[in-house]
Amino acid sequence: MNSIETKTAKLYEDIHPHIEIDKTINDYLTTLGIKKDYFDCKKILDCGFGGTAWAVELFCQSNAAEVHGIDLNPNWKISVAERLKNHPVQPKLITGNVLELPYQNNYFDYVHSHGVMHHTTDWKKGIEEMVRVCKPGGTIYLMLYGKFAPVGKFIHFSYRNLGKIIPYSWSKAFVTATGIFQNHEVSLLDAMYAPIEVHLSQKEITEHLQALSMEDILFFESAKWKQKKFFSSDLMFGSNIQNVVLAKKGNN
Ligand SMILES: C[S@@+](CC[C@H](N)C(=O)[O-])C[C@H]1O[C@@H](n2cnc3c(N)ncnc32)[C@H](O)[C@@H]1O
Repeated sequence: MNSIETKTAKLYEDIHPHIEIDKTINDYLTTLGIKKDYFDCKKILDCGFGGTAWAVELFCQSNAAEVHGIDLNPNWKISVAERLKNHPVQPKLITGNVLELPYQNNYFDYVHSHGVMHHTTDWKKGIEEMVRVCKPGGTIYLMLYGKFAPVGKFIHFSYRNLGKIIPYSWSKAFVTATGIFQNHEVSLLDAMYAPIEVHLSQKEITEHLQALSMEDILFFESAKWKQKKFFSSDLMFGSNIQNVVLAKKGNN
């Protein structure tokens, strides 16, 4: 791991215990308009599954053929496997880098990555790797940060700069003591200290996917953020969260 990856892995150890798993699963299913059985019989990979591994948990609740997950953080494959040990499908979790996926070409039916590629040193390479391991005719899901609207941009700029001045330990003590902005939806630590945070327009994402010959590129508005009228307004964050689903050319 390089120093950016070590810092990224460590940061999310402090944030992920505060993610509400069921809420996140519901938001995902509602956003995409699918049910759990969508994953039945599929070979699935979660790139950057995280400390709660909510998506791995969802896939393991279906009758998926295989559920795999990869993350930089070596602790999580152990804690998540322990938590999910009574689920119908047992996940195969490994420690590794999403920019060099250790899986064979054209293996998975469904390749998922939620909130990860924009925190890596090369989001384009990460998507290329997802495409490589996905079968022709398979499906890829990506959640990437979109561009901010003007007010959101200013708030974000302020957070990032405060993160350069205020020591991490102070902010962590503050959110721990108060519980303010500690959860997944609005995490102060995430906003201030994520070592890399890239924000992409639909155009940039689409151009890269088209260059990889992807088909059926669909953008979904997050069900959760759509309900929060203020946050999803054109002044605040607009389409800050990009949920993209696409297909790899060919027959499954
Ligand atoms: C914001 S969290 C998202 C976790 C999970 N997908 C979720 O939705 O809750 C980012 C995750 O990506 C992982 N990550 C970041 N860069 C990575 C890389 N290059 N390879 C593998 N995992 C990475 C981090 O360790 C962290 O678990």
